[in-house]
Amino acid sequence: MKVLVVGGGGREHAICWKLAQSPKVTQLYCAPGNGGIAQVATCVPIKATDVEGMVKWAKENAIDFVMVAPDDPLALGMVDAMEAAGIRAFGPRANAAIIEASKAFSKELMKKYHIPTAKYETFTELDKALTYIAEQGAPIVVKADGLALGKGVVVASTVEEAQAAAREMMEDKKFGESGSTVVIEECMVGPEVTVLAFCDGEHLVPMLSSQDHKRAYDGNQGPNTGGMGAFCPSPKYTPEIAKICEEQIFRPTVEALKAEGRPFKGVIYFGLMLTKDGPRVVEYNARFGDPETQPILSMLDSDLMDIFEACVDGTLDQVDIRWKPGAACCIVLASGGYPVKYQSGYPISGLEEAGKSATVFHAGTKAGENGEILTAGGRVLGVTATGATLEEAIAKAYEAAKPISFQDMHFRTDIGKV
Ligand code: AMP
Ligand code: GLY
Repeated sequence: MKVLVVGGGGREHAICWKLAQSPKVTQLYCAPGNGGIAQVATCVPIKATDVEGMVKWAKENAIDFVMVAPDDPLALGMVDAMEAAGIRAFGPRANAAIIEASKAFSKELMKKYHIPTAKYETFTELDKALTYIAEQGAPIVVKADGLALGKGVVVASTVEEAQAAAREMMEDKKFGESGSTVVIEECMVGPEVTVLAFCDGEHLVPMLSSQDHKRAYDGNQGPNTGGMGAFCPSPKYTPEIAKICEEQIFRPTVEALKAEGRPFKGVIYFGLMLTKDGPRVVEYNARFGDPETQPILSMLDSDLMDIFEACVDGTLDQVDIRWKPGAACCIVLASGGYPVKYQSGYPISGLEEAGKSATVFHAGTKAGENGEILTAGGRVLGVTATGATLEEAIAKAYEAAKPISFQDMHFRTDIGKV
């Protein structure tokens, strides 16, 4: 089978790495890919958001199956466009990807189908939003409705901070049109756990639970990032909590989307908060998480291509999805200054040595003129190791990362420990 993966970060490297192990996949392509992906797939220089260009290339190259990984092409309807061109594609159609693309939509869905989440109101007028914030008091959470690269959420500890956030989103258009509607919601407290689940429109199979680390610095300090590391499974996600989530959150979500005429095929990302009143949805994403995917797929014992096909064909209840025992941990090595301001283009050394004891997924790299690997983004690498226990996986990942260096390299030293 000729398979094309759309995207070019650490998540896509993990997906390509796993697909390359499938006997079904005879040719693997990735657009646009990166320096590490190029070692397992043929990279194609098309932007992930170029729907028309991607469909044209897939048709011309007789691609059998397309896997769309990032949120923006999903929201733009890349899966719909592939299907219209007669190409099988993994991922939700735009009408289902909206669970990530519009927070107002997903909150409304949860309210209608009684799926536990924070109480909220939606606003399109600044005055009303400001009054509501003053009435509710702090702490309170202000969210831009649309996609904002994970930065459209402000957890405000004072009324003033929340009102300033609403002003920036609605009046100053900090996130463009993404912020012309805002969701203002109750602040929840508790540990956060991520559960990704495969869906075929009807059936749902949760993957191992995981946790990521969004803040840039140790001790959960500093600005929010795309994620500085992740591990799986989460010790906080007990079998009792899993049962509640399946009954009250996962299945009702799949059924709600089906009932709304928006059957979800692909991966649903459940961002959960384990509050004292039970698990609550913090957010839905319509795709694999990054960097959660790196440790999770490292633990998958089954053929990923079989699972992708079952999701598209509606036969997820017939595939055997097995996980390896133990745990996995991914440490992100980032460019100094990320997520605010950083330089790229620095040579990376020690990759081969690190690769002997861990899998080094590339997030932001490119091949230089002489084949050397250069930094090319904020998050550069995700050093991922497995172990019999979480402690062992963490220790192995940090040990494996030791030989790697590039100018201004920055990483957290407490992944899996806080
Ligand atoms: P989101 O983009 O919706 O995942 O929000 C980003 C982060 O903001 C989450 O991972 C939480 O840490 C935090 N957050 C979002 N909503 C809430 C809430 N209602 N209460 C407390 N924290 C929240
Ligand atoms: N790691 C968070 C996300 O993928 O949205």
